[in-house]
Parts: sequence; C-alpha cells; structure tokens
Amino acid sequence: MKSLIQQLVETYGPSGFEDQVRDVIRGHVEPLAHEVQVDAMGNLFALKRGDGSGQRIMVAAHMDEIGVIVTQVEDEGFLRFSTLGAVAPKALMGTRVRFANGTVGVISHDGGSKEEIMGKTLPDWGRWFIDVGATGREDLPVGVGDVAVFEHPFHDLGRRLVAGSFDDRIGCVVLIETLRHLQSTPHDVIFTFTVQEEVGVRGARVAAFGMEPDIGLAVDVAPAGDIPHPTQSIALKLGAGPGIKVADAGMISHPQVREALERTAQAHHIPYQLEVLPFGSTDAKAMQATRAGVMAGAISIPTRYTHLPSEMIDLHDVEHAIQLLTAYLSAPVL
Ligand code: CO
Ligand code: ZN
Repeated sequence: MKSLIQQLVETYGPSGFEDQVRDVIRGHVEPLAHEVQVDAMGNLFALKRGDGSGQRIMVAAHMDEIGVIVTQVEDEGFLRFSTLGAVAPKALMGTRVRFANGTVGVISHDGGSKEEIMGKTLPDWGRWFIDVGATGREDLPVGVGDVAVFEHPFHDLGRRLVAGSFDDRIGCVVLIETLRHLQSTPHDVIFTFTVQEEVGVRGARVAAFGMEPDIGLAVDVAPAGDIPHPTQSIALKLGAGPGIKVADAGMISHPQVREALERTAQAHHIPYQLEVLPFGSTDAKAMQATRAGVMAGAISIPTRYTHLPSEMIDLHDVEHAIQLLTAYLSAPVL
C-alpha cells in the first residue's frame, strides 16, 4: 500500500486541475468496479452494486490539493500569484512550487521591514512572488493562469509517513483499498473521487446532486492535536485509530450514521476516536445539504501539520480506516 500512497501523493493535482490524479485513480478502480463514470466537473465515480436490499451510499474523497495560481508576470521574470485553497502565509518563505509542465520555482517576497525578514510579521499577499530562474518575460516557461503545487516529497519513516498532499490523497487510497476489499454488499456504493474540495467543496456538491445518495460519507484528513503545547484543543492523536466525525465547522454528522460507524468499529475491534473539529469541513458538508438532505458523516485520518508541505500520518490509522469502511459497507447500516 505504501507504493500506492507514494504514487498518489506525488501526482500533480491542484484544485480545478485534477486530471492527472483522476487518470491514476481510474487505472486502479476500473478493474474493481461495475461501472466507472466522470461528470462534467471532473468528479470520478466507481460504482459497486449491491443485492438491492441496502442503501445508496456515496463515499467521497477529494482528488485536489491546495496550490498557487499566477496572476501577473513582471518584466524581470518574477510571477505574482494568488492561492487555490487555504495556504498558510507563514509556510511560503523559501518554499518550492512545481507547475504542471515540471517548472520549479522558489517563493519569496519583496524586500521587507526587519520584522518581515525575521518572520515577526507577514507581507500582504501582493508582495509575494515566485522566481523560476527566468531572466525576463522571454524565457519564462509559465505565465498568467498557470497553477503550481507545493513541492512535498514523500518520506517513509516506518510506521509514520510524511508528504504534502495526504489531504486528501490518503482518502483516495482508503477508497481504492476499500473497493478492493469489499466482497459483497447489500448497498449500491458510489466511490466518488471529487474535484475542487479545497476551494469550497464544489465538486461534491454536484456529485451528490447527480447521484442522489441516501447516505453520504466523506473520507478526509483531520488535524491531530498531539503536538507539544497545541494552541487548539483537539483530541485526535496519530495512531489511535481513524476519527469518526461528530462535528466540524461546516457539518454535524447524522447521529445514526455516526452510531453505525461506532458500532461497526466496536463489533470488529477496530480502534477509533471521536472527532470534533472547531474549524474546517469536508465534502460531507456538501453531500448533506443537497436536494432534500442526505444523512451524512465522515471518517478521518488524523494528520499533523495539515495544509503544510510536510503532513504526517500513521499507517495504522489508514489500515484501520480501510477495515472500518469495508465492514460498514458490508452490512445493513440503518
Ligand atoms: Co484540505
Ligand atoms: Zn481535505
């Protein structure tokens, strides 16, 4: 599974430009699903049919990752940019980004005050730039509208893994492996790989409208609180099992969905943690609020340093999330 994880986190796929990730995932799910579809926005669906006695369940993980988009080019060859998704300004200085054509650039900002140089204050967005090593407009390999992701090489620390786009390629891995392990199910399961989550759960909204599920489950990362002197009180820990979401800033899980996930974990002796996140949300927010409403919940992979180029997860949590989701989908859920 580590090689699948590495393949997915190393594939280029900022919000709105998920085609390379979709191609990789499609190659994995096509032999496993009854049917594969792509909608107008680029969401990928892999359908696994049940025996007709269960529910219609949409399980979603997003393919996109945060990035930057070029807004203007300067005569000297420097690129001004805006962000795609929630990028932390403090992580920008000296960071490298990679464009779709392979061009690599370094991020810096206009010469600043002593406070800015020492990192005590941060420049406004308009004063940051990307330097791709060009000497002027003539030899610029990229331009306005081109999009880059943060360079975030994969490192295997053994039980723990480091990379930059576990949000949410690790959710995509959980879906692919669950589809692989799911023998028989009473449910029609729609494994959904969504686009544009990081810019406001845009893909999941149309995906859920189109597929009309009875139940919607997101699989995504959630920030872990087990670092020295955390500023937020978050109970999630690395290695203590997947999170079963109770609530985040955008959604309150349907109690029946959450309880069914808890019962499944208990019955199969799978470790889990209850997750309450005081900020952020997932594709479940969009799935829940479509049409006349959908029963929604989420399974989370505890993650340190989310939305930074070095996110950290524990492989055991991933394995347990796959076990939990597979067991949940194998039996009646209501
Ligand atoms: Co995210
Ligand atoms: Zn995410």
